[in-house]
Order: sequence, then C-alpha cells, then structure tokens
Amino acid sequence: MVLGIFVADLAFRAPRLPVMGETILGSGFASGPGGKGSNQAIAAARAGGDVGLITRIGNDAFGTMARQAWQEAGIDTATIVTDESAPTGAAFIFVSTETGDNAIIVESGAAGRLSTADVARAEAAIAGARVFMTQFEQPIGAALEGLRLARRHGVTTILNPAPAVAVDDAIWPLCDYVTPNETEAASLTGLPVETDAQVLAAANELVRRGARNALITLGEKGALLHGAAGTAIVPAFPVANVVDTTGAGDAFNGAFAVALAEGRPPLEAVRFGCAAAALSVQKPGTAPSMPGRAAIDVLLA
Ligand code: RIB
Repeated sequence: MVLGIFVADLAFRAPRLPVMGETILGSGFASGPGGKGSNQAIAAARAGGDVGLITRIGNDAFGTMARQAWQEAGIDTATIVTDESAPTGAAFIFVSTETGDNAIIVESGAAGRLSTADVARAEAAIAGARVFMTQFEQPIGAALEGLRLARRHGVTTILNPAPAVAVDDAIWPLCDYVTPNETEAASLTGLPVETDAQVLAAANELVRRGARNALITLGEKGALLHGAAGTAIVPAFPVANVVDTTGAGDAFNGAFAVALAEGRPPLEAVRFGCAAAALSVQKPGTAPSMPGRAAIDVLLA
C-alpha cells in the first residue's frame, strides 16, 4: 500500500538552468505521469507487486492522465479520492542534457490536501498489506497517520523522506526502513554526507533517532543499509548510458518494497531495488521508465 501524490511531470531537457530574467532554448520536452507516491506505486506494480494507492487528484485532464497510468499498471484505485475543488498538481523538471541529472519544483495540487481522515478511511487496505510506504510530498500528518496505522497492524513500513523537511522525531520509531538519498540524509541529520564514513554516520543518526533501519541511496555507488538488518553497501549495477535519473529513487523504493513483501531478506531486497533503479535511468521520464519484472530478473541473473 502506498500513500503519496500524483502530479503531471513536465520535463524540459536543456544544457543548463536559466538564471533569473533569462530565457534559454531547450532541446526536448515530455509530459507524463509523476509524483513520488504514484511513481513508487507504478514501480512496485511493474516489479510484480499487488499495489494500492492512497491519494487525491483533481477532476481535470491531469487527473485523467493519472487514472490511465494506474489502470495500465494494474493499481487498485479504491482508496483514491477525486477532489472536485482542487486541481491535480504538476512538477517542473529540468533534465541536464550533459549528465541526465535533474532539478525539480513540485506543486502537489489536490494531493496537498490529503488528510489524516483520508488515510484513516484506508485503514482496512493498510491493515491487509504486507508493506506500507510513504514520502513527504503530501502533508506530514497524513504520512504519520499512515505509518501509525501500518505499525498498529504489524505491516512493514518504509518512509522515503523526500523532499527532506523538518519533522517531529516521533516519526522515526514508526519506520522499519527510512530511505533518503545523500542530499536528504544530510538535510535530515544536519551531518555532512560525502565520504563512506559520513554516510554511515548519517545512517547511524537515523537509527539513533528510532528508525529500525536506514537505507541511504547513493546514486551510481549503490545503497547503504544500516540497522537491525545489518550493515552493508550494496553496489549499483553499472550503467553505460544514463539518459535520465529522474524517478530512479522511486524505482528503487517501489521494487525494494515488492521484494520485502515477497519475503526476501533485506539485502537481497536492496539488490532488487538497485536493479530496478539501474534500468529506470536508461529511459526518459519517471513512471514511464519503471522496469517490468522480467527485465529486473534478467539483470539480477
Ligand atoms: O521522484 C521524482 C518525482 O518527484 C517526479 O515524478 C516529480 O513529480 C516529483 O514529485
């Protein structure tokens, strides 16, 4: 079960970002389904999961885009609310033509109104799940409620704390896995996260605050797992031609969640997530770049 937002991604490829007051020519544009929660749900469904999503969308063209994407992926939409008085959100995504790296501004739209009541209404679906996963693009109160309900029903919890925001320390003990990237880990802990030793220190800080495990994603270096499940760096799968890194973290989280739900040991689940991320960066877009189960299995083999 995933709690999070859907937005329409509007992705511009250009050699660099313009400075204030400047207009530059782009070299490509694409629009498509996005939002971390929806991306992670689609990644999990493509990776073989049986997935439901808790979110809000508007009654508009971007909302139609969302429903089409979820239908194609086979996601259960019973816990999705159509909000008649707020638009579906959108994200401005800059993708560097030089490196494939990205910078994003996201406006959560209707999903920014996800409430604790919306989450409470989905309690039965959460209780019936093996894994519950959320992020920070919708109100933190909704994330907290989802994590609390999942914990109450013995469901494994994953918090992808993206974007990094200031949160009450009460959230960490509700998490079996906290999955920031390096930038988010630095922001959340207030520690530098550049060397391997610093990554481990940041992971240790999240565990000290109460998370059962910290799982810090490290881009082309892989991911560090630290906590009750042990301590290890799982290397990334080498990728010769990185096209677009947007959504790679979502591919990782969605696939990791599926592997845990299948009962795989945590380190094996991290490797499964790394394989999905490596495949996703070889295609443009976010949700459209999420790999299918067959491709993940081939890479792992
Ligand atoms: O993680 C990538 C996602 O972040 C994009 O799809 C964008 O919508 C933002 O939410």
